[in-house]
Amino acid sequence: MRRPIVIGNWKMNGSLESSRQLVLAIGEKAVDDCGADIGVCVPFVFIPEVSSLLDGSRVLVGSQNVADRPAGAYTGEVSAQMLKEFGCTLAIVGHSERRALYGESNELVAERFRQAVGEGLVPVLCVGETLDQRQQGKTFDIINAQLDAVLDTSGTEALDGVIVAYEPVWAIGSGMTATDEQAQEVHQYIRNRVAGRNQTIARALRIVYGGSVKPDNAARLFSMPDIDGGLIGGASLEADSFLSICCSV
Ligand code: PGA
Repeated sequence: MRRPIVIGNWKMNGSLESSRQLVLAIGEKAVDDCGADIGVCVPFVFIPEVSSLLDGSRVLVGSQNVADRPAGAYTGEVSAQMLKEFGCTLAIVGHSERRALYGESNELVAERFRQAVGEGLVPVLCVGETLDQRQQGKTFDIINAQLDAVLDTSGTEALDGVIVAYEPVWAIGSGMTATDEQAQEVHQYIRNRVAGRNQTIARALRIVYGGSVKPDNAARLFSMPDIDGGLIGGASLEADSFLSICCSV
């Protein structure tokens, strides 16, 4: 049985003070185990403070990216080891904003994934198609390329214990959520693709949905058989809406 997980992705939002208030509210109210694991992926600079405020709580801390190399002359990057040292257990890799706005290729994302796994972080590997790609019937080709780059670089066994987030690009921040059926179809496809290589890993793999998840649509999405929780952007910036989504599993 897969335990659901709901992860907040704060993106580039908030101040030190607003981050403190948000995690204190989340940490305080997340004492109830409503059946889901909970995580927050925060801007790099807030990680030390957020980690220390959440120390001893059940809320996991994560980054929104991770370097594709272990250490060295890579200006602007933050290594998996550094993230671990400051209390991260999760690391988003391949978010569509990184892919589209910062040109991150499938190969680069696969290297980032490899570094995260190598250091014992749990990568949250984001995959998903644009509206154009969906309309051209290319959704599964895109998912295959995004997934296979990681499988080919790190090997199928590296997917043991990681999280895959299906985030249709057209649903992110747009208020246009995928229907439960649209999301389920792709989640099932991802699981089957992994099952083609290793059934045990595929059965245990947590595949979460992201893209305009809100308190009023979360329960229906999360009730689908292959949807194991969510990656939440906008609605994770407010403690009550985030926790209401967490407890919609
Ligand atoms: P959204 O973002 O919930 O604001 O659509 C999701 C994401 O980008 O991870």
